[in-house]
Amino acid sequence: MKQSDFGGRIRFGDRPRPASRRDVLKRGAAAAAVVAVSAVVLPRFAIGAKTPVKVGILLPFTGVYAKLGENITDGFLMRLAEAGNKLGGREIEFVKVDDEANPAKAVDNTTKLVKGKRVDFVIGTVHSGVAAAMVKVIEKSPKTIMICPNAGNNDMTRDSCAPNVFRTSFSNWQTCYPMGPEVAKRGHKKILSVTWKYAAGQQMMDAFFEGFRKAGGGEPLEQIWIPFEDVEFQSILTKIAALKPDAVFSFFSGSGAVKFVKDYAAAIDRKQIPLYGPGFLTEGTLEAQGAAAEGIVTTLHWADTLDLPANRKFLADFKAKTGRTGDVFGVQGYDTGTLLLRAMAAVGGDTAATQQLIAAMEDTVMTDSPRGTWRMSKSHNPIQDFYLRRVEQGRNTVLGVAHAQLDDPATGCKL
Ligand code: PHB
Repeated sequence: MKQSDFGGRIRFGDRPRPASRRDVLKRGAAAAAVVAVSAVVLPRFAIGAKTPVKVGILLPFTGVYAKLGENITDGFLMRLAEAGNKLGGREIEFVKVDDEANPAKAVDNTTKLVKGKRVDFVIGTVHSGVAAAMVKVIEKSPKTIMICPNAGNNDMTRDSCAPNVFRTSFSNWQTCYPMGPEVAKRGHKKILSVTWKYAAGQQMMDAFFEGFRKAGGGEPLEQIWIPFEDVEFQSILTKIAALKPDAVFSFFSGSGAVKFVKDYAAAIDRKQIPLYGPGFLTEGTLEAQGAAAEGIVTTLHWADTLDLPANRKFLADFKAKTGRTGDVFGVQGYDTGTLLLRAMAAVGGDTAATQQLIAAMEDTVMTDSPRGTWRMSKSHNPIQDFYLRRVEQGRNTVLGVAHAQLDDPATGCKL
């Protein structure tokens, strides 16, 4: 489906063109108009209210995380469309940029949105390394508010937390810590981990082994790291088969998760060496993974089978709008829309009221989210339930709550 099907004014990261003679004349006329208006002494916001709110969307639309970016965007736009595509009574102008999940381009991409396009809000992103670079730009631009709809980089809401940086998704720690005790309880001792070597993979493995160790589970048998976006798993699977761990703990996501789960099922008997991980292993991937995913147990803050009215509505509407099955990424986009709608309603659309916008976001208690009730922590990260899930007949069945209302430790955050 095309973005424009959602309505609203959507512009894609367009480049400025050189000024023509007509532009120069127009600017002269505009300057004269400003002089005339300022004589009338209108309150600042009365002028601002006529202009659209500018929302930058910085997400991956290419590479292994492309589908994550797409589903976050569609969940977000769907929520805004439900509310008539207005924020605090104002029209919305979107500026959408593909960050390619590339940290090297992140400072530039964010600066273009903040300084070049002068957006009021930046919605982004998926990749923890890109998010860290975004925060560096945003913290120096205190009037711009960033809402992160996925990237779990712990640091964003710990040492590097900032008043104008919020997250509607999770910290990497939260997604894996609850699985440690669960794997220990199942009697597995020799655990091998495998993931992409970047902030998210590192933090998730650390969190899992922290929980595992605390529950008396012991040290990792072996940790395998591969460069981000590599999806060549054959030599790793040969190594796993040779080492014969009791279980494997792994983080991959997007098209990387599809391939890993399929390759694993083809090479290894999961009854002998079960595969565990954060729910990203089986999110937005189940149709492509097919039988290869059956039986995989994960932890996550949402599941398609969560029997809540808000979840049933989300899944039905997402399917109707996009033709695709909703996933956790769509939910995070959707909740990002709710957060923004409420904050902008609280200030009557006045994007200059930064302190009040921040206060409204800090006060968030989501009682109508598809994931169940969550609230914003002092460090601007969701406090939420983490569910234990198992893939059954192509869906993530909820086995129970692995950790209720889990808060990130938020170490080093002073707000
Ligand atoms: C991250 O880089 O923080 C990240 C990416 C994809 C996920 C989860 C976390 O599914």
